[in-house]
Amino acid sequence: MTRKTLTQYLVEQQRESGTVAPEVRLLIEVVARACKAIGHAVGKGALGGVLGSLESENVQGEVQKKLDVMSNDILLEANEWGGHLAAMASEEMETIHPIPNRYPKGEYLLLFDPLDGSSNIDVNVSIGTIFSVLKAPHKEGGQAVTEADFLQPGSSQVVAGYAVYGPQTMLVLTVGAGVAVFTLDREQGAWVLTNDNLQIPADTKEFSINMSNMRHWDTPVKRYIDDCLAGEEGPLAKNYNMRWIASMVADVHRLLTRGGIFMYPWDKREPNKPGKLRLMYEANPMSFIVEQAGGRAITGTERIMDIQPDQLHQRVSVVLGSRNEVDRVKSYFDAK
Ligand code: AHG
Ligand code: MN
Ligand code: MN
Repeated sequence: MTRKTLTQYLVEQQRESGTVAPEVRLLIEVVARACKAIGHAVGKGALGGVLGSLESENVQGEVQKKLDVMSNDILLEANEWGGHLAAMASEEMETIHPIPNRYPKGEYLLLFDPLDGSSNIDVNVSIGTIFSVLKAPHKEGGQAVTEADFLQPGSSQVVAGYAVYGPQTMLVLTVGAGVAVFTLDREQGAWVLTNDNLQIPADTKEFSINMSNMRHWDTPVKRYIDDCLAGEEGPLAKNYNMRWIASMVADVHRLLTRGGIFMYPWDKREPNKPGKLRLMYEANPMSFIVEQAGGRAITGTERIMDIQPDQLHQRVSVVLGSRNEVDRVKSYFDAK
């Protein structure tokens, strides 16, 4: 059987539905190539000297791992020269990175979490890269791009995707016309289409939450998980299973494949922060993918992609996955 490559898929999307502008196609291919390079570095592990931490902290006050910085550099370098971007923003950089003047500039903005699941790097558990693409607002007379240009709701995303570096390296992508999955053919070095229309099962019996935070949760989350744990005899009348990988990419990849609900809700540990996960680099791109696969993504009470951001690095409460189960959790929040 001949399978399509990423390039063929994108060319066909461009021709048939007009969903992929030529500049966007180039952009996706460059990001995919960078993910291949990151996956290669990940695979070398101790042999490539890529494990362990650095002395530095990122803007969120988290200790940076070597791979956080290496992956960030790979993405910056790959995307600077192609002429398709105006600027980039990353979880690992305090401010935006405008395209240097020596290169032509394009109309798009690229945002990324270069390495998601950093706590799993040194223990050989799946990690990934998450990215999102926005269109830069039109400006008269070539005015410089600013941080404010990035502050668009998730519903404005043009593209979202992630790569997962696991037993297989995969790329999951949406350009707003469903979700396509590509598997890296390591011998050929090509991204090969392995599912052209990923759909999340609407129902599930599997939840994903860091249970060690239970004592800090808000009442609706506590009530929902208590009901799950009560199993067949409880109000939900089914026995639930639990999974928590602590790499959002890997947890979301599992629920995209076989259904599930993923939650990183606001909790009382740091009451002034709306959550742990980052809206622009994690929640928005994953919400776009999940919705395009027929699932839902909310904060508990509202749709994540409707949020008007006011800060580049802002955080958000996240509940996403199988449609009926997310609706169920929303009803617990609505009853509060
Ligand atoms: P990152 O490695 O980019 O900082 O993201 C880690 C995130 C997310 O991937 C995961 O779901 C969550 O943090 C895990 O958090 P806990 O360690 O609190 O479970
Ligand atoms: Mn992350
Ligand atoms: Mn990260």
